[in-house]
Amino acid sequence: MSRRAIIGTGRLLPMDGPTSGATGVIDGPWLLLIEEGRVAEVRAGALRAGDPEIIEDVGSALVTPGLVDSHTHLIYAGDRSDEAAARSRGDHYTGGGILRTVAATVAASDDELVRETRRRLLSARASGTTTIEVKSGYGLEWVEERRLLRLIADAAEGLPLRVRRTYLGAHAIPAGSDAATQAEMIVETLPRLASEADHLDVFCEPDIFGLDLTQAIAEAGALEGLPLKLHADQLQRSGAALLGARLGALSVDHLEQMSADDAVILGRTPTVATILPGPALMLGAGLPPARALVEAGATVAVGSDANAGTYGQTSMPLAIGLATTLGLTIDEAMWAATAGGARALGLSGAVGTLTPGAEADIVAWDAEHEGAFALRLGGPEPVWTWLGGECDD
Ligand code: NIG
Ligand code: FE
Repeated sequence: MSRRAIIGTGRLLPMDGPTSGATGVIDGPWLLLIEEGRVAEVRAGALRAGDPEIIEDVGSALVTPGLVDSHTHLIYAGDRSDEAAARSRGDHYTGGGILRTVAATVAASDDELVRETRRRLLSARASGTTTIEVKSGYGLEWVEERRLLRLIADAAEGLPLRVRRTYLGAHAIPAGSDAATQAEMIVETLPRLASEADHLDVFCEPDIFGLDLTQAIAEAGALEGLPLKLHADQLQRSGAALLGARLGALSVDHLEQMSADDAVILGRTPTVATILPGPALMLGAGLPPARALVEAGATVAVGSDANAGTYGQTSMPLAIGLATTLGLTIDEAMWAATAGGARALGLSGAVGTLTPGAEADIVAWDAEHEGAFALRLGGPEPVWTWLGGECDD
């Protein structure tokens, strides 16, 4: 059996607590024992006789679990920076531009989509992400959606990154169609692509997929064994997040229009509240009630939401730094970007924590304190990254 250890003298954040912000910081010296690619033990104190081979001494570097980005839309073609420029002049985001990306994506070859998606995955990995969720949603027609889900897997092939796929056929309404027709198509064809996805998502908005259609799609997904994630209360407060909780969703995401009262209700449920500080701040049309969610006891996750139209950044250190501007403490933001993200993907205990049995997905940063994520907005940078105990840097 392979037993190896990493040692350090600085701060290690195992994220072993059950609630937002419970980083469980250990001040060095410490030893992290890895067996068969998993964490076997994290121990404070000096080396002892009989300790296994040391594969790395990270010195005073800050050590955390690999970051978990539980919400991205990384597979697409085309460029919509003109929309961001128009928003800087006062335009409002409605979701309408999604159809431009759908046109460019449907026209793109498999090779181009794989190449671009791989490039984006690698940029996420370079900034410390070791588990990432990628949604389809820029195909809409079911055969195109299935192509995107398959190409996500092709793009991920051989990369040092754990990739989970989410089916988001309910992302927009194709030109000439309507929401009910698109929803019906999704419900009918779900059995033909469910095996290509780990989760199901719906852009639940009164003017896109309303509560009834969202529920119908979610129930069809549940029959195929696909856990639910929702785009909820992003553009309007519609009760989408509470619908998600009622349907047992793994997570409800965005929440820019969510009221503090809804946050209290959500806090009583196991559904994760995923906030996406990048697009929330850049769209400037409302901010999620981050503080109210934490105080209500909700499990909070932070994701990047890197996508084609509203926010193109895969950096989770940036998302963590920005989350502190929304009212999370740095400890809460770090927990949300690791243990919280893992819960939002149904991977609690497997990734996002450095506790016995978890995958040995570990980052040692070019920083000595987690405050660097706020001080060096967009930083720090990984020095060493291990995935399942293997370091390829
Ligand atoms: O999460 N809100 C819906 N979907 C994406 C944006 C998609 C786009 O505009 O291309 C989001 O922000
Ligand atoms: Fe999104």
